[in-house]
Amino acid sequence: MNWRAFLTGGLVVSAGLLVYGALVEANRLVVRRRSLRLRGWPDRLDGFRIALLADFHLRDAHTVALGRRAVSAALDASPDMVVIAGDFVGYWKPASVEMLGEVLEPLLAMEGNVVAVPGNHDYYGAGDADHLEVICDALNIRLLRNELWTHQGVHWLGIDSLNAGDPDPYTPLRSFDGTGPIVALWHEPDWVEVLPTGVTLQLSGHSHGGQFLAPWGWAPMSTENGRRYVRGFYPDAPTPVYVTAGIGTTGPPSRLFCPPEVVVLTLHSDLS
Ligand SMILES: [Fe+2]
Repeated sequence: MNWRAFLTGGLVVSAGLLVYGALVEANRLVVRRRSLRLRGWPDRLDGFRIALLADFHLRDAHTVALGRRAVSAALDASPDMVVIAGDFVGYWKPASVEMLGEVLEPLLAMEGNVVAVPGNHDYYGAGDADHLEVICDALNIRLLRNELWTHQGVHWLGIDSLNAGDPDPYTPLRSFDGTGPIVALWHEPDWVEVLPTGVTLQLSGHSHGGQFLAPWGWAPMSTENGRRYVRGFYPDAPTPVYVTAGIGTTGPPSRLFCPPEVVVLTLHSDLS
Protein backbone atom coordinates (compact mmCIF):
# COMPACT_ATOMS: atom_id res chain seq x y z
CA MET A 1 0.00 0.00 0.00
CA ASN A 2 1.19 3.50 -0.78
CA TRP A 3 0.99 5.06 2.68
CA ARG A 4 1.83 8.54 1.47
CA ALA A 5 -1.11 8.48 -0.96
CA PHE A 6 -3.34 7.01 1.77
CA LEU A 7 -2.44 9.74 4.28
CA THR A 8 -2.74 12.49 1.69
CA GLY A 9 -6.17 11.18 0.72
CA GLY A 10 -7.22 11.13 4.39
CA LEU A 11 -6.09 14.71 4.91
CA VAL A 12 -7.93 15.88 1.79
CA VAL A 13 -11.14 14.15 2.90
CA SER A 14 -10.83 15.59 6.44
CA ALA A 15 -10.21 19.10 5.11
CA GLY A 16 -13.20 18.72 2.76
CA LEU A 17 -15.46 17.63 5.62
CA LEU A 18 -14.30 20.57 7.76
CA VAL A 19 -15.08 23.02 4.95
CA TYR A 20 -18.47 21.38 4.30
CA GLY A 21 -19.17 21.50 8.04
CA ALA A 22 -18.28 25.19 8.23
CA LEU A 23 -20.21 26.30 5.14
CA VAL A 24 -23.27 24.04 5.37
CA GLU A 25 -23.74 22.05 8.58
CA ALA A 26 -22.83 24.82 11.05
CA ASN A 27 -25.50 27.03 9.43
CA ARG A 28 -28.23 24.40 9.14
CA LEU A 29 -30.23 25.59 12.15
CA VAL A 30 -32.92 23.11 13.19
CA VAL A 31 -35.81 23.36 15.63
CA ARG A 32 -36.04 20.19 17.68
CA ARG A 33 -39.39 19.64 19.41
CA ARG A 34 -39.67 17.15 22.27
CA SER A 35 -42.40 16.30 24.75
CA LEU A 36 -41.03 15.21 28.12
CA ARG A 37 -42.95 13.32 30.79
CA LEU A 38 -41.52 14.20 34.17
CA ARG A 39 -42.09 12.81 37.62
CA GLY A 40 -43.32 15.62 39.83
CA TRP A 41 -44.40 17.92 37.04
CA PRO A 42 -47.79 19.31 38.14
CA ASP A 43 -50.97 18.93 36.13
CA ARG A 44 -51.63 22.66 36.42
CA LEU A 45 -48.52 23.23 34.26
CA ASP A 46 -49.30 20.48 31.76
CA GLY A 47 -48.10 21.57 28.32
CA PHE A 48 -45.67 24.17 29.68
CA ARG A 49 -43.35 25.07 26.82
CA ILE A 50 -39.67 25.98 27.11
CA ALA A 51 -37.46 27.18 24.27
CA LEU A 52 -33.92 26.13 25.17
CA LEU A 53 -30.98 28.04 23.71
CA ALA A 54 -27.31 27.62 24.55
CA ASP A 55 -23.77 28.18 23.36
CA PHE A 56 -24.15 31.23 21.15
CA HIS A 57 -20.35 31.69 21.35
CA LEU A 58 -20.73 35.19 19.87
CA ARG A 59 -17.47 36.44 18.42
CA ASP A 60 -18.08 37.77 14.90
CA ALA A 61 -20.70 38.75 12.31
CA HIS A 62 -21.37 35.13 11.40
CA THR A 63 -22.15 34.03 14.97
CA VAL A 64 -24.33 37.11 15.46
CA ALA A 65 -26.37 36.27 12.34
CA LEU A 66 -26.80 32.66 13.45
CA GLY A 67 -27.70 33.76 16.98
CA ARG A 68 -30.36 36.11 15.66
CA ARG A 69 -31.89 33.29 13.63
CA ALA A 70 -31.94 31.08 16.71
CA VAL A 71 -33.65 33.71 18.86
CA SER A 72 -36.20 34.31 16.12
CA ALA A 73 -36.94 30.56 15.91
CA ALA A 74 -37.32 30.40 19.70
CA LEU A 75 -39.83 33.26 19.67
CA ASP A 76 -41.74 31.66 16.78
CA ALA A 77 -42.38 28.64 19.04
CA SER A 78 -44.44 30.87 21.39
CA PRO A 79 -42.80 29.47 24.52
CA ASP A 80 -43.90 30.13 28.07
CA MET A 81 -40.24 30.60 28.97
CA VAL A 82 -36.97 30.98 27.11
CA VAL A 83 -34.00 29.35 28.84
CA ILE A 84 -30.42 30.27 27.92
CA ALA A 85 -27.98 27.69 29.25
CA GLY A 86 -24.74 29.66 29.04
CA ASP A 87 -21.78 30.45 26.77
CA PHE A 88 -23.25 33.65 25.43
CA VAL A 89 -19.82 34.71 24.16
CA GLY A 90 -16.85 32.83 22.77
CA TYR A 91 -14.69 35.20 24.83
CA TRP A 92 -15.20 38.78 25.95
CA LYS A 93 -13.90 41.59 23.77
CA PRO A 94 -14.96 45.25 23.37
CA ALA A 95 -17.50 44.41 20.66
CA SER A 96 -19.21 41.73 22.78
CA VAL A 97 -21.70 44.15 24.34
CA GLU A 98 -22.97 45.28 20.94
CA MET A 99 -23.11 41.71 19.64
CA LEU A 100 -25.10 40.54 22.66
CA GLY A 101 -27.53 43.42 22.26
CA GLU A 102 -28.03 42.64 18.59
CA VAL A 103 -28.80 38.98 19.25
CA LEU A 104 -30.77 39.17 22.48
CA GLU A 105 -32.80 42.37 22.11
CA PRO A 106 -35.75 40.60 20.39
CA LEU A 107 -36.18 38.63 23.64
CA LEU A 108 -37.64 41.80 25.18
CA ALA A 109 -40.85 40.55 23.54
CA MET A 110 -40.89 37.77 26.18
CA GLU A 111 -41.65 40.46 28.80
CA GLY A 112 -39.39 39.02 31.46
CA ASN A 113 -40.01 35.33 30.80
CA VAL A 114 -36.36 34.60 30.05
CA VAL A 115 -33.96 32.94 32.47
CA ALA A 116 -30.26 32.21 31.99
CA VAL A 117 -27.03 31.02 33.54
CA PRO A 118 -23.44 31.77 32.58
CA GLY A 119 -21.23 29.21 30.88
CA ASN A 120 -17.50 28.75 31.17
CA HIS A 121 -16.80 30.91 28.11
CA ASP A 122 -18.64 33.79 29.76
CA TYR A 123 -15.62 34.01 32.06
CA TYR A 124 -12.99 34.11 29.29
CA GLY A 125 -11.31 37.16 27.76
CA ALA A 126 -11.82 40.78 28.79
CA GLY A 127 -14.91 40.22 30.92
CA ASP A 128 -16.82 37.81 33.13
CA ALA A 129 -20.30 36.93 34.32
CA ASP A 130 -20.60 40.30 36.11
CA HIS A 131 -20.56 41.94 32.68
CA LEU A 132 -23.20 39.49 31.53
CA GLU A 133 -25.39 40.36 34.49
CA VAL A 134 -25.44 44.06 33.53
CA ILE A 135 -26.43 43.20 29.95
CA CYS A 136 -29.09 40.72 31.01
CA ASP A 137 -30.59 43.24 33.43
CA ALA A 138 -30.91 45.72 30.58
CA LEU A 139 -32.63 43.12 28.39
CA ASN A 140 -35.04 41.86 31.09
CA ILE A 141 -33.30 38.47 31.23
CA ARG A 142 -33.01 36.95 34.70
CA LEU A 143 -29.42 35.72 35.05
CA LEU A 144 -29.11 33.28 37.94
CA ARG A 145 -25.84 32.43 39.66
CA ASN A 146 -26.53 30.06 42.53
CA GLU A 147 -30.03 31.45 42.97
CA LEU A 148 -33.55 30.08 43.14
CA TRP A 149 -36.14 32.18 41.33
CA THR A 150 -39.83 31.34 41.51
CA HIS A 151 -41.61 32.44 38.37
CA GLN A 152 -44.73 31.14 36.58
CA GLY A 153 -45.17 28.51 39.29
CA VAL A 154 -41.74 26.97 38.61
CA HIS A 155 -38.65 27.21 40.81
CA TRP A 156 -35.73 28.00 38.51
CA LEU A 157 -32.44 26.93 40.08
CA GLY A 158 -29.61 28.65 38.22
CA ILE A 159 -26.14 27.31 39.01
CA ASP A 160 -22.88 29.04 38.18
CA SER A 161 -20.50 27.50 35.64
CA LEU A 162 -18.79 24.36 36.89
CA ASN A 163 -15.65 24.80 34.78
CA ALA A 164 -15.06 28.52 35.33
CA GLY A 165 -17.41 29.92 37.98
CA ASP A 166 -18.17 29.11 41.59
CA PRO A 167 -21.09 26.66 41.51
CA ASP A 168 -23.27 25.93 44.51
CA PRO A 169 -26.51 24.02 43.86
CA TYR A 170 -27.24 23.50 47.56
CA THR A 171 -27.41 26.88 49.31
CA PRO A 172 -30.19 28.32 47.08
CA LEU A 173 -32.45 25.37 47.91
CA ARG A 174 -32.43 26.25 51.61
CA SER A 175 -35.19 28.72 50.76
CA PHE A 176 -37.25 26.07 48.92
CA ASP A 177 -40.61 25.54 50.57
CA GLY A 178 -40.97 21.96 49.33
CA THR A 179 -43.78 22.54 46.86
CA GLY A 180 -43.72 22.91 43.08
CA PRO A 181 -41.33 21.75 40.39
CA ILE A 182 -37.66 22.75 40.30
CA VAL A 183 -35.95 23.20 36.94
CA ALA A 184 -32.17 23.45 37.28
CA LEU A 185 -30.09 25.34 34.73
CA TRP A 186 -26.44 24.29 34.72
CA HIS A 187 -24.25 24.94 31.70
CA GLU A 188 -22.11 21.83 32.14
CA PRO A 189 -24.32 18.72 32.23
CA ASP A 190 -22.23 16.05 33.89
CA TRP A 191 -22.60 17.02 37.52
CA VAL A 192 -26.34 16.47 37.32
CA GLU A 193 -25.46 13.49 39.47
CA VAL A 194 -24.72 15.69 42.51
CA LEU A 195 -27.97 17.64 42.39
CA PRO A 196 -30.13 17.31 45.51
CA THR A 197 -33.07 14.96 45.16
CA GLY A 198 -36.31 16.68 44.33
CA VAL A 199 -35.08 18.60 41.28
CA THR A 200 -37.51 17.83 38.46
CA LEU A 201 -35.35 18.51 35.40
CA GLN A 202 -31.91 19.89 34.53
CA LEU A 203 -31.30 21.84 31.33
CA SER A 204 -27.75 22.09 29.98
CA GLY A 205 -25.58 22.87 26.96
CA HIS A 206 -21.77 22.98 26.77
CA SER A 207 -21.16 19.70 24.92
CA HIS A 208 -22.35 21.05 21.54
CA GLY A 209 -23.77 17.57 21.10
CA GLY A 210 -20.22 16.49 20.24
CA GLN A 211 -20.09 19.11 17.42
CA PHE A 212 -18.51 16.55 15.08
CA LEU A 213 -20.27 13.21 14.85
CA ALA A 214 -19.67 10.11 12.80
CA PRO A 215 -22.75 9.05 10.80
CA TRP A 216 -23.46 6.37 13.44
CA GLY A 217 -23.40 8.98 16.24
CA TRP A 218 -19.91 8.50 17.69
CA ALA A 219 -18.32 11.77 18.86
CA PRO A 220 -14.51 11.83 18.63
CA MET A 221 -14.25 15.13 20.55
CA SER A 222 -15.39 15.67 24.11
CA THR A 223 -15.29 18.48 26.61
CA GLU A 224 -14.64 18.62 30.34
CA ASN A 225 -17.83 17.90 32.28
CA GLY A 226 -19.75 17.36 29.05
CA ARG A 227 -18.72 13.78 28.36
CA ARG A 228 -21.31 11.63 30.09
CA TYR A 229 -24.43 13.51 29.00
CA VAL A 230 -23.74 14.77 25.50
CA ARG A 231 -27.02 15.45 23.69
CA GLY A 232 -30.73 14.85 24.04
CA PHE A 233 -32.83 13.63 26.94
CA TYR A 234 -31.56 11.36 29.70
CA PRO A 235 -34.69 10.35 31.66
CA ASP A 236 -32.83 7.78 33.77
CA ALA A 237 -30.12 10.11 35.09
CA PRO A 238 -30.34 10.74 38.87
CA THR A 239 -32.18 13.91 37.84
CA PRO A 240 -33.59 13.82 34.29
CA VAL A 241 -31.43 16.07 32.14
CA TYR A 242 -31.85 17.53 28.66
CA VAL A 243 -28.64 18.59 26.87
CA THR A 244 -28.92 20.75 23.78
CA ALA A 245 -26.35 20.63 21.00
CA GLY A 246 -26.47 24.44 21.13
CA ILE A 247 -25.95 27.01 18.43
CA GLY A 248 -22.30 27.99 18.03
CA THR A 249 -18.97 26.21 17.86
CA THR A 250 -15.65 25.98 19.65
CA GLY A 251 -12.37 25.07 18.00
CA PRO A 252 -12.91 24.79 14.24
CA PRO A 253 -16.03 26.86 13.32
CA SER A 254 -17.57 23.75 11.85
CA ARG A 255 -20.01 20.94 12.66
CA LEU A 256 -20.67 17.52 11.21
CA PHE A 257 -23.90 15.50 11.50
CA CYS A 258 -24.71 17.72 14.47
CA PRO A 259 -26.41 20.92 13.31
CA PRO A 260 -27.06 23.94 15.52
CA GLU A 261 -30.41 23.69 17.22
CA VAL A 262 -33.18 25.41 19.10
CA VAL A 263 -34.92 22.91 21.38
CA VAL A 264 -38.60 23.35 22.18
CA LEU A 265 -39.64 21.23 25.15
CA THR A 266 -43.25 20.64 26.12
CA LEU A 267 -43.52 19.33 29.67
CA HIS A 268 -46.07 16.88 31.02
CA SER A 269 -46.56 14.93 34.22
CA ASP A 270 -45.60 11.26 33.98
CA LEU A 271 -49.03 10.51 35.46
CA SER A 272 -51.11 12.30 32.83
FE1 LIG B 1 -19.19 25.62 27.54
